[in-house]
Amino acid sequence: MPLFQVAVIAGDGIGPEVMAEALPLLAWARDRGRPLAWTLFPHGADHCLATGETLSQVTFEHLRDHFDALLFGAVGDPRIPDQRHAEAILLRLRKDLALGVNLRPCLPLADHLVPLKGVGARDIHIEVFRENTEGPYVLAGETAPGRATDLALHTETAVRPLLEVAFHRAQAQGRPLHLAHKANVLKHGHGLWLRMFQELKQAYPEVEATPIHADALLCALIQRPQAFGVIAGDNYVGDLISDLLAAFQGGMGMAPSLSYAPHPAGRCRALAEPVHGSAPDLAGKDLANPAGIFLSTALLFRFAGWETEALAVEKAVQQALEAGEGTPDVKGTLGCRAFSAALRARLH
Ligand code: NAD
Ligand code: IPM
Ligand code: MN
Repeated sequence: MPLFQVAVIAGDGIGPEVMAEALPLLAWARDRGRPLAWTLFPHGADHCLATGETLSQVTFEHLRDHFDALLFGAVGDPRIPDQRHAEAILLRLRKDLALGVNLRPCLPLADHLVPLKGVGARDIHIEVFRENTEGPYVLAGETAPGRATDLALHTETAVRPLLEVAFHRAQAQGRPLHLAHKANVLKHGHGLWLRMFQELKQAYPEVEATPIHADALLCALIQRPQAFGVIAGDNYVGDLISDLLAAFQGGMGMAPSLSYAPHPAGRCRALAEPVHGSAPDLAGKDLANPAGIFLSTALLFRFAGWETEALAVEKAVQQALEAGEGTPDVKGTLGCRAFSAALRARLH
C-alpha cells in the first residue's frame, strides 16, 4: 500500500508546542498499521529571520509533488510586523494547492464548556464550509497617502465547488444549509454567491437551503444555535464565523479545521490545522490547549480514510474534557504537555 506522506510545519508561537504533542498521534496511527510517514519542515518566523526564506518555489513544489497532505501548527510572529511569511507560507499553500474548501466543524464535546445559557454540547452540530482562496485574501490593493484599498475577488470557479460541497453535505446529513452573505451591500461579489446558491438550490430540492445576511446570522447563532447545520460563506465571512463557533466549543484552543481540494489536481490535497493562531501571549509557557490540533489531526485521519483512528482521537478528547482534564482555557489545571499526555493515555 502506498505511504500517505504528511509534511509537518509547526510554525510560530505555540505552533511548535502543540505540534510536538500531535506528532505522537501520527506515530500511534502508524504503529496501528496505517501506512503513514511524515517529514518536518522548519518554515516559519525563525527560519525566515535566519535564512531570509519564507517558502521558496523549490520547497513549494516539493510539498506539492511529494506529499499527500500537510499538518500545520500556526504562523504569526511579532518580530515580522507585516507577517509577510504568513502570506507566503499559509495563504500561498491554501491558494496554490487549490485547497478551496475549508471545513471548520463545531461539535462541542462537553456541556460545561458551552457558554450559552441552557444549551448543551449535543444541541450544537454545525459545519462551516469556508471558501479558502479568494475574497479579500487575494491581497490585491494598495496603500496610498491618506487612502487604502483592499479588493475582493469572487469567481464562479471557486464559489461553485464550495457551494456544491456544502449542498452535498447538507443533503447527506439531512440538515439545513445557510449561505452567509452580505449581498445587500456587496452586490457584485456576494451577489454572485447568492445567484449560484439559488441556482444550486434547484439541483438539491430536498435541502432546506436559506440565504441569511452574515451579520444577522451571528445574532441568530447565539440565540438559537440548534437551528443551524451546514453554513457556507466566503473566505472573510467564514473566518469570522469560525471563531464565534470556536467559543461554542470552549474557546480558540478547541476548534479544528481541514482545508482540501474539491477537485484535486495534484498529489497534495489537504491541510489540517487548528483554527487558532500562534497565540504569542501563551508561547513558551506550556499553557496552549493541544485539543485543536488533536481534533485537526483526527480530521486528517478521516480524510485519509482512517475513521477508526479519527473517532478514537475525538473520543479521547471528549472523555478527557468530561473528566475535567484540560488546560486553563477549558477550566482545567494541566499544562499543554500534561493535558496532551492525558489525551494520549485515553487512546485505544
Ligand atoms: P490567536 O488564535 O493566536 O489568539 C487569540 C486568543 O486565543 C488569545 O487569547 C490566545 O491566547 C487564545 N488561544 C489561541 N490558541 C490557543 C490555544 N491553543 N490554547 C489556549 N488559548 C489559545 O489569534 P490572534 O491573537 O488574533 O493572532 C495571533 C497571531 O496568530 C497573529 O499573527 C495572527 O495573524 C496569527 N494567526 C494565525 C493563524 C494560523 O496560522 N492559522 C490563525 C489565526 C491567527
Ligand atoms: C485562520 C487565520 C488566518 C486567516 C490568518 C492567519 C491568515 O485567521 O486560519 O483562520 O485569516 O485565514
Ligand atoms: Mn481566523
